[in-house]
Amino acid sequence: MNLSKITDIKNKIHYEASRTEAPEGFPKFHDIPKERYTSQEFYELEQEHIFSNSWVVAGREDQIPTPGDFFTFKKLGEPMLLIRGNDGSIRCFYNTCQHRGAPVVRDESGSSKRLRCQYHSWSYDITDGSLVAVPDEHDFIDLDRTQRCLPQISCDTFEGFIFINKNPLAEPLRDYLGSAAEMLEPLDNLSLKEIYRESMVIPCNWKITAEAFLEVYHFKHIHSNKEGWATLDSRRAAMGLYPGGHSRMVTGYSDQHINLSGMQGWDDWKALDNGDFKTMESTSQEYLEMLDCTSTAVSYFPNTIIPLGSFGYPVLLFWPIDIENTLLEWWYYGPEDWEGNAIPEHWQKRAKQFDQIMDEDKYNMAPMWESLKSPALSGIPINYQERRIWHLHEEIDRQIGHQNIPDELLMDQVLEPHLES
Ligand code: FES
Ligand SMILES: [Fe+2]
Repeated sequence: MNLSKITDIKNKIHYEASRTEAPEGFPKFHDIPKERYTSQEFYELEQEHIFSNSWVVAGREDQIPTPGDFFTFKKLGEPMLLIRGNDGSIRCFYNTCQHRGAPVVRDESGSSKRLRCQYHSWSYDITDGSLVAVPDEHDFIDLDRTQRCLPQISCDTFEGFIFINKNPLAEPLRDYLGSAAEMLEPLDNLSLKEIYRESMVIPCNWKITAEAFLEVYHFKHIHSNKEGWATLDSRRAAMGLYPGGHSRMVTGYSDQHINLSGMQGWDDWKALDNGDFKTMESTSQEYLEMLDCTSTAVSYFPNTIIPLGSFGYPVLLFWPIDIENTLLEWWYYGPEDWEGNAIPEHWQKRAKQFDQIMDEDKYNMAPMWESLKSPALSGIPINYQERRIWHLHEEIDRQIGHQNIPDELLMDQVLEPHLES
């Protein structure tokens, strides 16, 4: 994120705040067919083409700092394990013994010099998953160990995050993220520490949960405080649509929040006093100032959204359990170090505030899912402010393949002229 991009974002917010109609020439969207949420057939297409062929966040590198450290992972359906090998690299294997299919590790996390199945002690190497020990091997006629390695799936890291992709021939992670990588790259992400993790299961389709974080059109209507105002002004939102279905949103504060923050106006970007919170290290002071003086978030296709702050960020992950249940997780990271189990008091306060916002968003979702399925709703109209949702759906269709989607569920591909490079 260079200085000219930051200036450009500020100019875009000026434009958004001043316009009185949708931008000239911006495409008219048709309704999103609601069956894109409710059709089991469409859900299965998403599973086959998106969640089996996209880079998704499995964890953070600091969860497994030394060779042999592992954790298990089931959010893509099949049991897997992530482990740091003797060469220092992290890999992802299916957690399925190649003898009779028992899990190779049973603990959610741990450390092991070998991956030894507890059933008959077949053992696998932690670095390449090769089969290294078979008790009474002579009783297997012609056992070819090379054909019985633990199957591996694509795994790579970016800015401290461990990503996996079920497609063994997946494009490199950095290529997949493309220009949207610019949102994390200026920050010293590797030095962050996990502050806390939370999760909830929401009875609603995964896209409905994710879309709640792709627009701020709803913000003052469900996130206002007791005095009747919200911290953000949705008309001060500048969005960036990256290739690959990724996107960005930078939203200016409301006038009421500006008054409390020590800013002179929404565009008075500078380092704010964040009290007890430590500021992250960054290659760009201007970027940190933007993060201090706006709400800035990046979305990585398909299911990761990160609202960035100068003193850390939560990572939001949306995992479909089935067509109408979603596991929503949020993991908070910050440049903190502390002794003991309890997180520092200022972080406890921050966690409480953030969890309340998550509760406010959640409050909508299950009832919305129930009513959306009613015949009362024929289709979903999307406005200009909600264009990141359209962008997500366009990419879903590109990934599934237009030829695989029933005509009545297809999205028009209209946003390409509006993408950033
Ligand atoms: S199932 Fe793993 S050793 Fe038999
Ligand atoms: Fe919200």
